[in-house]
Amino acid sequence: MSELKTKYLGLQLDNPILVGSSGLSGTADSILNLVDKGVGGVVLKSLFEEEIIMEYEKNVKEKLGNSDNNLEFLDYFDYQLKENKLKGYRQLIEEIRAHSDVPLIASINCYSPGEWFSYAKILEDSGVNALELNLYRIPSKINVEAVDILKNYFDIVKRVKEYVTIPVSVKISPYFTDLGNVVSKFDMLGVDGVVLFNRYYSPDFDLENDRIISGPIYSSAGDYTNTLRWMAMLKDQVTCDLSASGGVHSADTLFKMLLAGANSVQVVSALYKNGAGFVRDLISGLQTWMERKNLTSIEDIHKLGRSMMPNHAEMFERVQFMKYFGEHN
Ligand SMILES: Cc1cc2nc3c(=O)[nH]c(=O)nc-3n(C[C@H](O)[C@H](O)[C@H](O)COP(=O)(O)O)c2cc1C
Repeated sequence: MSELKTKYLGLQLDNPILVGSSGLSGTADSILNLVDKGVGGVVLKSLFEEEIIMEYEKNVKEKLGNSDNNLEFLDYFDYQLKENKLKGYRQLIEEIRAHSDVPLIASINCYSPGEWFSYAKILEDSGVNALELNLYRIPSKINVEAVDILKNYFDIVKRVKEYVTIPVSVKISPYFTDLGNVVSKFDMLGVDGVVLFNRYYSPDFDLENDRIISGPIYSSAGDYTNTLRWMAMLKDQVTCDLSASGGVHSADTLFKMLLAGANSVQVVSALYKNGAGFVRDLISGLQTWMERKNLTSIEDIHKLGRSMMPNHAEMFERVQFMKYFGEHN
């Protein structure tokens, strides 16, 4: 029988499959069900600072109308709201911990640079095993330079690393001109892992009702290729772990991500579409591939992947694309 145990962010996982941050990892019932089906670890639903701010503004308006001159009250209220939200998160962790010691990775997304590390510290104290910083920000202001956006990201990571001792990963978008360089800078700042990639909610037009609606929420089975490419290109150029996120809808794709060098593979859309029991299909499909190829460990899969891509950075670059289409006119 092949051994699926592996390490990610220094945490021991029973297998490399993680439930990615989403509604599926937002309640104890759903998480424990996924744990029962065999997931190797869980990235909890992101704690969004904006959610707290929106709730705060709504409640303040209700309580004070437009006369917002009671600053002391506002400060207290802000503190209370944050406390309640964090209390909910802590309760979730306690509920899970009462039944399982599955590795838990908390996820945060903050709006104000000053809040990231205070949230990070509170979450560390509540007993999670690691933190994933969800660096989700659409650079919609056209007068902001890339260098300033990146500086902000790097400052967040530096500060969080100063405040916590548990492992820290960053989840990034694929939309950087200098993606490899950005990952390498995070690596140099000492992050324990980088998650490739976040999937942004996409707005769309509802033509019948003249309004904005959400575009497709879930990924499709063909959406894995960009993650696979960057996983393979970056794996041997950085020292931190890499986690694959995006388009993993089958055991074949899971196996490919591991061949490309992933230390863990996050799954979300496929679990929404197929239900929690799909974790079992992924595990047995992975075992089947390992047996077919005489591989006994996740490390063996990484080695096989390396042997398939002797000069792998070039294998995944544009030159392959040119060659392929050159031959298929
Ligand atoms: C319904 C839904 C909710 C999500 N919520 C979060 C979230 O709170 N934080 C986060 O970092 N990513 C969130 N994501 C992104 C996923 O974690 C994941 O990165 C993305 O969906 C790509 O993986 P997939 O192709 O397996 O779905 C969400 C995705 C979906 C579909």
